[in-house]
This record gives sequence, structure tokens and C-alpha cells, in this order.
Amino acid sequence: MTTYNSPAYRQAYSRINGMVVVGEGLADRHFRRLAALLPHDREELLRLGAMEARHARDFVGCGHNLGVKADAALAQRLLAPLHQQFQQAEANGDRVSCLVIQCLIIECFAVAAYRLYLPVADPYAAPITAAVMADEREHLNYGEQWLRPRFAAVAADVEACALRAVPVALGMLHELRADLATIGIDPSALVADFTLLFQESLKAVGFSSKAARSLVNRLAARALA
Ligand SMILES: [Fe+2]
Ligand SMILES: [Fe+2]
Repeated sequence: MTTYNSPAYRQAYSRINGMVVVGEGLADRHFRRLAALLPHDREELLRLGAMEARHARDFVGCGHNLGVKADAALAQRLLAPLHQQFQQAEANGDRVSCLVIQCLIIECFAVAAYRLYLPVADPYAAPITAAVMADEREHLNYGEQWLRPRFAAVAADVEACALRAVPVALGMLHELRADLATIGIDPSALVADFTLLFQESLKAVGFSSKAARSLVNRLAARALA
């Protein structure tokens, strides 16, 4: 049974909640940038961005409910390398990498993290987490649906972006392992869940089962290196 008001829980929660709130805010910014990059889907992408802004507010509320203030500084440092890759892709006019970073990698990560958090969440945070998780699936779906009809043209770029960005995303976890465990999330299970979701996502985009498996195996090797 988790004790939500123990000092250890509250300290760990402050850092994990910081990652969530800053990550949701970053997702909002990424969707607004994507709306500019993909004018045909502008309204849809602005709608998805507004959902992320709402997620950030809802998770700030979860912190307030426990009387915990989010540690934003750590989150900003940990999320900076992934955000920089997004900005670099945007500067290069590389819309595919922007989509892969936000709509596949970050969204798979969010779905995996919220799925594992849900059974150990406090009673206030649990229904919020369940609703947010459903939204993140919609965002993941948007990315898959955009990439799928263009698979032949984008496959090489999706792969190259995954090889650059997934190890960076997994790297964020290293400093959060102890905090994740304290709030009841097994960090190894989170990596495994993310990997599985990302592999499924690659298949939804058009990669064969064998190609998707081979790519995630290479990602795992890079993340461990
Ligand atoms: Fe979100
Ligand atoms: Fe999302």
C-alpha cells in the first residue's frame, strides 16, 4: 500500500510530477510548431496542443492535491536534449522527424508511463490519468495516420530519427529510476512497455514486423551503450 503523504513519496512525486507537467507543456509547444509545419492539419494540431495544455494544468492540480510543488528545474534539464532535437529538425524543415519525436516517441512514452502509473496513482490522480492516457493514444494515432500513407517516402527518415531520439528519451529515465520506484513504477517495466508500444507504432506506420523488431533491438543496444 502506497503512503501518499510520506516524505519519501512526496519528494519523488515532486520530481516525477515536474517531468509530467513540463513534458505536457513541451508537447503543447511541439503541437503548435507542428500546426505551422503542416498547415493542412493546422486546426487539428492546435486542438491536440490545447489538450496537452489541459493535461499540464490537470497534473499541476494532482500536485496541489497532495500539497506537492513540481520540481520543474530538473525536468527542464532532462527534457532539453529531446526538445533540441525537435528544434533542430524544425530548423532543417524536417517535418517527419518533428512528427516522430512528438507523436511517436513522446506519445509512446506518455502512454507507457501513464499506464504504469494508473494502478498506483492516488484516488484524485487516477481518473485524471486514465482520461489523459486516452488522449495520448489519440495523439499517437494522429502521427501514425499521417506517416502511414507516406511510408515509402518517410521510412528512412523515421528510422534515422528513432536512432537519434529514442536513446535520448530513454536516457531521461536514468536519473528518475529511484523516484519512479518510490512512487510504485518499475523503471524496467517502463522501458519494456515503451519499447513494445514503439514497436507496435512502427508497424502501424508501415514497417514489417521483422523490420520493427530489428529497429527496436538496435535502439535497445544504443540505449545500453
Ligand atoms: Fe498530454
Ligand atoms: Fe500527447
